[in-house]
Amino acid sequence: MAVSKKIIGFMERGSWIRKMFEEGIELKKKFGSDNVFDFSLGNPNLEPPSHFKTLINNLLNNEKPGMHQYMPNSGFDFVRDKIAGFINKREGTNLDATSIIMTCGAGAGLNVAFKALLDEGDEILTIAPYFVEYNFYANNSGGILTLAQSNDDFSINFEELEKSITTKTKILLINSPNNPTGRIYYQDEIDKLALLLEKKSKEFGHTIYLLSDEPYRKLVFENITLPSILNAYKNSIIIYSFSKGLSLAGERIGYIAINKNIDDYKVTVDAMVLCNRILGFVNAPALMQRVVSELFEESVDLNFYKNNRDTLYSIMTEAGFKFKKPEGAFYFFVKAPIDDDVEFCKIANKHKILVVPGSGFGRKGYFRVAYCVSHDTINRSKEAWIALGREF
Ligand SMILES: Cc1ncc(COP(=O)(O)O)c(C=O)c1O
Repeated sequence: MAVSKKIIGFMERGSWIRKMFEEGIELKKKFGSDNVFDFSLGNPNLEPPSHFKTLINNLLNNEKPGMHQYMPNSGFDFVRDKIAGFINKREGTNLDATSIIMTCGAGAGLNVAFKALLDEGDEILTIAPYFVEYNFYANNSGGILTLAQSNDDFSINFEELEKSITTKTKILLINSPNNPTGRIYYQDEIDKLALLLEKKSKEFGHTIYLLSDEPYRKLVFENITLPSILNAYKNSIIIYSFSKGLSLAGERIGYIAINKNIDDYKVTVDAMVLCNRILGFVNAPALMQRVVSELFEESVDLNFYKNNRDTLYSIMTEAGFKFKKPEGAFYFFVKAPIDDDVEFCKIANKHKILVVPGSGFGRKGYFRVAYCVSHDTINRSKEAWIALGREF
C-alpha cells in the first residue's frame, strides 16, 4: 500500500461521515438541491461585509512594489500591532505586535500552537462534544487528544474535567461559542477553570496551557460579553479566525494571540513563529492581512443568523424536539429521539433533512444542525421537520 497506514486508518474513521455526505449528494441529484434541506455543513452562507470588496479593490488599484512578497513569518508588523491594540481595548490587556502571529485561519493556528508546545505523547484535553478535527491536529504534532464530557446543558463538568487531567496533560483546549453545541462559557466557568489549571500545574510541576479556539467569537446573539481568557489565566493563548465572523472561510486568515504574562514569553513566541514557517504555512496571505486589518470592528449580519436560529428553533420544538436555545455560533446539538444517532440521521435523510450524528463530535445519541443556510431553506423545511418528529 502506497499510502500511510495511519492515514488509511484516519480515512476509515471518517468514512461514515463521507458516506452521509455522499447520500446527501445522491438525494440532491434525485430530488433537486432546492428540495433537500441541508443542515450538515458549517460553511457560512452569508457574503462578507460590502466594505470587504472595496478594500480589496483599493489595495489592488494602489498596488505598491513588494506588496506580494515574503514577509516575517509572524505577518506584517502594522497588522499585528493593530490586532494587539484591538484586543487591549476590548480586554484591558497589555499585548503588543510580538504577541500576535497571523495564521491561515484557526486550523493553522491550532496546528502551530500544538507543534510549538507538545512533545511526543503529550495530551491535549478538550471538552466533548467537540470539533472532530482536533484529533487529527493533535496527531500532527505527536499529541494525543483526551476528552472530558460536559454536563447535559453542555456547561463544563468540573468533576469530569479534573479527573481527566493527567501528568501528561499539556494543553486544555476550549471552544466558545462552541461547535457543535452553540454554548458559551461564562465568566464564573472560566474563573473556575483557571483555578483548576493553576492547582494542577502546581501539583504536576509543569505548565498546563489554556488554548481558547474562538472562530465563532463574533457570533453571539444575546447581550453577553465573553469573558477574557487572557485576564483569567496567565498561561493562555487565543486562536482566532475571520472565517465565520466575516464569512472569509475560503481566504484562510486568522491569528494567534499569546498572553504577555505566559511562562517564557519570548521562547514561546519564537517557537510559534518557527512552527508557522516549518509547517509550510510560511506566513498568512499578504492581501488578506491588509484587508482584515480594516475590519476588526465589523461582522456579517448577526440578525440573519439570529432569525435563522429563532425560526428553526420554533419549527423544531413544534416538531417535538426538546432542547435549550443556544446563545452563539450557528449550530443546534439536539438529543435524538432514539439512542442510535446514525440511524436517526438516516431516517432524517428519508425526510430530505441532512444533519450530522453526534457520535462524530464525541457524543452519541445527539445530532448537529447547522443553520447557516438561507431563510427560505429553513421556512420550507418546516413540513419535513414535523413529519420527522411524527415518526417518533
Ligand atoms: C471549532 C472550530 N475550530 C476551528 C475551525 C477551523 O476554522 P478555520 O476556517 O479558521 O480554519 C472550525 C471550523 O469549522 C471550527 O468549527
